Amino acid sequence: MTDPRKIVLVGMPGSGKSTLGKELAAKLNSPFYDLDDLIEEKEGKSIAEIFSEKGEGYFRNLETSVLGETLLLEQAFILATGGGAPCYNDNMNLVNSHAVSVYLDVPLNHILDRLNQTQIEVRPLFSGLETAEIILKLKNMYVERNRYYEKAKIKLSGEDISPELLIAEWMPFLK
Ligand code: S3P
Repeated sequence: MTDPRKIVLVGMPGSGKSTLGKELAAKLNSPFYDLDDLIEEKEGKSIAEIFSEKGEGYFRNLETSVLGETLLLEQAFILATGGGAPCYNDNMNLVNSHAVSVYLDVPLNHILDRLNQTQIEVRPLFSGLETAEIILKLKNMYVERNRYYEKAKIKLSGEDISPELLIAEWMPFLK
């Protein structure tokens, strides 16, 4: 059953899910979880190590299983998911059956600004790529993934998505 106190943020890598999630959690006095961090804790390895040692397929199944466990927590929380999480194993429907999902629809040029070199190094999908290749990959990902992200119950678009804006859109779900 959907518990509106559970908020799940989805969107492209670099769209600001973790940053916004932390701000939101502080405002709502709810715990904040980052799905990638939970996966790293469970596996005892970084996301980059999991990708390189076990492959993306293994990572995706682990991601689905940790997502499922987290959604079952009987408490309010804010969860930031990895950019690919909604797009595998019917995860978006899983999220929607437990929580209020929020799509951060951030323009690609803003995402590129956010994904500076350090940020790219911790994201295995972009490692070893030149800037032009990263831009192309991001564009393709955006086209492929948008249909999954669009299933979110709330969509917030633009460069300046504030916690206040998100809270205003979320309040009606509490009724
Ligand atoms: C991924 C995004 C990453 C992380 C993994 C795969 C993706 O999370 O889950 O590297 O497929 O887009 P961020 O969205 O936080 O970068």
